[in-house]
Amino acid sequence: MTVKDIFETMEYGPAPEAAGDALAWITDQGARFGHFVDGAFTAPGATFETTSPATGEVLAEITQGTAEDVARAVAAARAAQGKWEKLGGPGRARYLYAIARLLQKHSRLFAVLETLDNGKPIREARDIDVPLAQRHFYYHAGCAQLMDDHAPGRVAHGVCGQIVPWNFPLLMLAWKIAPALAMGNTVVLKPAEWTSLTALLFADICRQAGLPKGVVNIVTGDGETGAALVAADVDKIAFTGSTEVGRKIRAATAGQGKALTLELGGKSPYIVFEDADLDSAIEGLVDAIWFNGGQVCCAGSLLLVQEGIAERFHAKLRARMDKLRLGDPLDKSIDVGAIVHPEQCARIAALVEQADGTVYRAAGPVPEGCFYPPTLISDLSPASPLMQEEIFGPVLVSTTFRTPSEAVQLANNTRYGLAATIWSENINVALDIAPKLASGVVWVNGTNMFDAAAPFGGVRESGFGREGGAEGLMAYTRPAGKAKALKRIAPFTGDAAEPQPVDRTAKLYIGGKQARPDGGYAQAIFDAKGRLLGQAPIANRKDVRNAVEAARGASGWAGATAHNRAQVLYYLGENLSARDAELAARIDAMTGRKGGAAEVALATTRLFEAAAWADKFAGEVRAVPMRGLAMALREPVGVIGALCTDEMPLAGLVSVMAPALAMGNRLVLVASEAAPLIAQELTQLLETSDVPGGAVNLLTGPHDDLAKTLADHADVDAVWSFSGADISAEIERRAAGNLKRTWVNDGKARDWAGAEGAARAFLDAATEVKTVWVPYGA
Ligand code: NAI
Repeated sequence: MTVKDIFETMEYGPAPEAAGDALAWITDQGARFGHFVDGAFTAPGATFETTSPATGEVLAEITQGTAEDVARAVAAARAAQGKWEKLGGPGRARYLYAIARLLQKHSRLFAVLETLDNGKPIREARDIDVPLAQRHFYYHAGCAQLMDDHAPGRVAHGVCGQIVPWNFPLLMLAWKIAPALAMGNTVVLKPAEWTSLTALLFADICRQAGLPKGVVNIVTGDGETGAALVAADVDKIAFTGSTEVGRKIRAATAGQGKALTLELGGKSPYIVFEDADLDSAIEGLVDAIWFNGGQVCCAGSLLLVQEGIAERFHAKLRARMDKLRLGDPLDKSIDVGAIVHPEQCARIAALVEQADGTVYRAAGPVPEGCFYPPTLISDLSPASPLMQEEIFGPVLVSTTFRTPSEAVQLANNTRYGLAATIWSENINVALDIAPKLASGVVWVNGTNMFDAAAPFGGVRESGFGREGGAEGLMAYTRPAGKAKALKRIAPFTGDAAEPQPVDRTAKLYIGGKQARPDGGYAQAIFDAKGRLLGQAPIANRKDVRNAVEAARGASGWAGATAHNRAQVLYYLGENLSARDAELAARIDAMTGRKGGAAEVALATTRLFEAAAWADKFAGEVRAVPMRGLAMALREPVGVIGALCTDEMPLAGLVSVMAPALAMGNRLVLVASEAAPLIAQELTQLLETSDVPGGAVNLLTGPHDDLAKTLADHADVDAVWSFSGADISAEIERRAAGNLKRTWVNDGKARDWAGAEGAARAFLDAATEVKTVWVPYGA
């Protein structure tokens, strides 16, 4: 092409990035890779090929990790962990900083290698993936430095197994390894089988940084290797990938006491209001769905446009799509690169094939091979699978809305909840709907913004746990000290036939009303001397369902101001202490101990503590390196089902209830199995306080059965258990269904009376962070 031609057509010529250095690095390594274990590369085992999706060219051979390989890597990580943690935060910070510097020094090599292996445009690898990976190590070097200050009383989990996907191979590695190392963990990371090369180059960087042996281990291989890592002797699993595999991992780790974070898929809405700056919204959309060819977990793949501008917006969008350049990802003037693998390309094509709507494909040429054109599908019915399912390719589906509330309804009409984007020049509209969106991240007048200081992660079937920010860090720590196992306490026995002076058959408390148990059965409860204390109702599945429905319905509680919630909790505390002697006597009778008075005092403290926290746990603003603020806001988890401890029937129950209520959750609480009559006392308190009907529902009955029903229920957002450790596995396994959050004792107990039983841990578990990004400053 001559200069004259260029002036005539105004077309870009190709601007290819040289691949020589990256290919030379592969050749220098022999183009056959083993794992990186205990500071050295192992000899290659049985291998598979990794190819460049843009050309089909074989780049290298990668070893398929076996369970033995995984075990060796975990053993190396285990051996290195104690010393690494004892090095202290500032000591570890120096290594993280060294890694960040080396990533910077070799950034071009990393960017080219990533593009070769994954097919993403070099512009993206160079300007986004690699700089963000560096930023992660710098940020977390700082976190290590300040650990004593930021995470007092917390220690590392130990060895973390980390599994990452193919869409951001280096960046996801950085998201996982940097915080883990900062907090004193050692890691075994498994890259995705299609994109292992930058992880192996990273291993080389660890060597150059002089990182102690065994602190970072990389084991390559496919899903079987991943499953072996999940099953291995690790203390935590951090996974990013598909919801389907996330569910398998949840089930596989059930009851093992392994900490778990899951960052899964999404169908993230991109909402454009009539008053939006349309050209900006179009450019944002290009970034939302054609960044990395739409192979992004938080891709803005569901376009919602307000009706009045829909036609104009679609016309602009089609015109912009026609200008997108698809082609050789190493070409710096390319907008959309190759799809990661022919298999993924075929998956995308098959999904689009099913479309019953109007399909528009960008007009530009599509190269031969593993490429898929930018595609817009409109006129689909809301129930169409394409409106619900993650396509994970450059395919946008679009529909229209009339009112803000309809936009919210359409946006929330998927099983996911990862990210959402809002475009409007009216900040009132944008900030009004941001809290109503079921999503872990909300971007206002911008999209796909990420930073190490800002937590990222989803709600619902997009997974749980956060990466980035203080929340991401905490997920790589646990409280210091050994916890004792929680015990179930067997109820006292007696003669049920003993005559009762008055009928003291307690009721369940559902939706603000006392309710007879559906099954009509009750259990006789005795004191230590075998005297009958009363009859406790036995709740069944139907009662659980009614209680969950009542809790769902009490959504107003979440909307009450934090000040109001605090007032209600203070009032409850007052009412509780007004009845202290009577309650203490009742507790002593049920438990056969003399701990009643102390329990009542503790429960009162917990209520006052929670009331104090209610308006002080709203979240934080995070400093991100751009003209904007990332607000990490604490939102209630939703409906929490909790099984309360036998050890302290009143204080244990109130320790769970008060902080969860303070944060605006609604509860289905199952009282102590040994001393269930406490629910009756609490019912009276709740009835005379201002807690709205349905915000707290109290059930009694066998924990084993009720735990299962709660864990199975699709409308329950979290299940906590402080009952016997034996039901933890069942709860976690069943929770895999809708990926609800679980907090089970895993054989470790809260110290109910001490600091551990205090509100902070409960406040964390009772909230999920929503990160709202807003423009701020010129
Ligand atoms: P995947 O979830 O199967 O793979 C992610 C990682 O998990 C890979 O390292 C894989 O080897 C590993 N893995 C697979 N099975 C495993 C198991 N049973 N136990 C432990 N680890 C296991 O994702 P895949 O098949 O590559 O992509 C399928 C779909 O998943 C995509 O079309 C997309 O919809 C979604 N996906 C979502 C991602 C996200 O970031 N949310 C990332 C990658 C894929």
